[in-house]
Amino acid sequence: MNNADVIICQNFQQDLTEAVSQYTHDQVYILTDETTHELCLPLLSGIPILANAKHIVIGARDTHKNLETLANVWLALSNSGATRHSLMICLGGGMVTDLGGFAASTFKRGIPYINIPTTLLAMVDAAVGGKTAINFNGLKNEIGVFQPAFKVLLETEFLRTLDTHNLLSGYAEMLKHGLISNYDILNSLLAFDTVNIDFSLLKQLVAQSVSVKEDIVKKDPREQNIRKSLNLGHTVGHAFESLAMKQSRPVLHGYAVAWGLVCELYLSHVNVQFPRDVMRRVIHFIHENYGSFPFTCDDYEQLYTYMMHDKKNQGNIINFTLLNDVGNLRLNQTATQSLIYETLDFYRECMGI
Ligand code: GLY
Repeated sequence: MNNADVIICQNFQQDLTEAVSQYTHDQVYILTDETTHELCLPLLSGIPILANAKHIVIGARDTHKNLETLANVWLALSNSGATRHSLMICLGGGMVTDLGGFAASTFKRGIPYINIPTTLLAMVDAAVGGKTAINFNGLKNEIGVFQPAFKVLLETEFLRTLDTHNLLSGYAEMLKHGLISNYDILNSLLAFDTVNIDFSLLKQLVAQSVSVKEDIVKKDPREQNIRKSLNLGHTVGHAFESLAMKQSRPVLHGYAVAWGLVCELYLSHVNVQFPRDVMRRVIHFIHENYGSFPFTCDDYEQLYTYMMHDKKNQGNIINFTLLNDVGNLRLNQTATQSLIYETLDFYRECMGI
């Protein structure tokens, strides 16, 4: 399986023209959701190579990441005469790149697709690495394939219009990349001013962050070993996300990951001696920027149950990726129920809830 070519755009229209012309195609399709159709598509207007592109628009938000939307995309392709030589451009957040990538990878046994992620979360995570999927049977990303995009174009100008919460949501995945790579990257992320944003510095940090993910995916595209490190913060994070959803107070994915990092750094400290001072610095940054997710000890059992059902587990054991230092991975770790409860106590205490 090849890896996608990730391009950090210097001149978006020129870079996109070049990317599209590198594949001999008969037709280009541009997939957007209702939001990116209105806000982001205008940046693609006037590009000669896309003059005859056909447009497919789907509903925005994760609720539309389903079989019905997927079938509508297949139908739009089929009814308009798309062939195996057609090319799809997915312009949007992770929902569009996940579903669009899956639609393209399965249509006529697979046509190439180009991802143009428009959110920070999609730029540093969803759009890179070849995971495509839809939700199914009430389960997130239940059906999908590993199929890298032909190209991924990162245009950080899209981030200027993103609200702070969505920006911070993506930033949590960048923090994760910092923790699993090295101190230089982590320190520059912790020093970044998330209030008065320097977009040219953010562009450099995004490029650095994506290359961390690319390196890992190159070594382990199908998540047999070190790609599991990209799950740091996610076992507890997904449990927070599920509890929040159940209690009708949904939280953004990256916020849940940030809070999950607090817990998984504590587990790393207790189980594999992750340095306490680094843990404290990261937790301070998270508390300052993400606030906290309040819950009580009455929620521990439910959170534990969610962790037990995490799809990364094998059998009846919760699977964690932990760190014994920044960039020093400890894969396939587990924790007892009492240590998990102790971790939740720690979280509540240090996050002041
Ligand atoms: N989002 C984690 C991964 O791509 O493996």
